[in-house]
Amino acid sequence: MPTTLITGASSGLGAEMARQFAALGHDLALSARRLDRLEELAAEITDAHPQRRVVVRTLDVTDDDAVFEAFRAFAEDFGTIDRIVINAGLGKGARIGTGKYYANRQTAMTNFVAALCQAEAAMEVLRAQKRGHLVFISSMSAMRGMPKSMNVYAATKAGVAHLAEGLRSEMQASPELDITVSTIYPGYIRSEMNDYVENAPFMVDTETGVRAIVGAIEAEKAEARVPSWPWWPMGTAMKFAPLGVVRRIL
Ligand SMILES: NC(=O)c1ccc[n+]([C@@H]2O[C@H](COP(=O)([O-])OP(=O)(O)OC[C@H]3O[C@@H](n4cnc5c(N)ncnc54)[C@H](OP(=O)(O)O)[C@@H]3O)[C@@H](O)[C@H]2O)c1
Repeated sequence: MPTTLITGASSGLGAEMARQFAALGHDLALSARRLDRLEELAAEITDAHPQRRVVVRTLDVTDDDAVFEAFRAFAEDFGTIDRIVINAGLGKGARIGTGKYYANRQTAMTNFVAALCQAEAAMEVLRAQKRGHLVFISSMSAMRGMPKSMNVYAATKAGVAHLAEGLRSEMQASPELDITVSTIYPGYIRSEMNDYVENAPFMVDTETGVRAIVGAIEAEKAEARVPSWPWWPMGTAMKFAPLGVVRRIL
């Protein structure tokens, strides 16, 4: 059975990806800071799919040493990790220059620096295996610079997308390694991160949104904007539209 490692699996997209990958027959390596939530999820999944193996580990992705230790430990638990999803993320942020540097810094450290650390730890495992699938969860906000409280969040997600593309380029030119790299750009999908948002454009429920994510990951797409309608054409429009238009889309 394939094994999928997911970070940030205690809620939202990560938890629902775990449910949907388990239903597809994957064993799971799940991490996040809230161990109680991971244990509940593991119990729910193994109740529904008694053949599935689910291993959970508490992990703060901003703790570099802990990330390397956790990924190595998961690789030892399972022997092989077929897929690693870098999903843990934070939606905090504030207008730059309004005294909330701590919030913007925390977003940058969690969404970008910790994603780099996870990529380092993941590639160490995949390079040793000479195979596997690395998935980065970016965001539609990565398409362009975003104003106000989304500024730093969007910048981190653009950084994540470039990190992924650079690795993809390297892996495409490394025939000795059977490693695929995917970048997923979700539009608005209901989760704890946007619980408080009432009218986000084209918001879909968690199960629907994650079904689109899981479909794109299973197809090992290089890049996917999800759900593809309306986000595929919207992404193209966002890339070329004047800033005044882009500001009104997200
Ligand atoms: N929902 C959307 O509309 C949307 C759209 C585009 C992109 N995304 C991206 O999707 C990913 C998942 O977000 P979500 O929407 O599912 O939000 P969520 O429900 O808030 O989930 C975020 C997950 O990340 C984990 N996390 C946060 N900080 C962490 C840290 N320092 N160490 C370890 N885990 C940490 C949280 O677990 P703990 O708190 O237990 O650690 C939680 O499991 C994020 O990267 C987000 O940017 C979401």
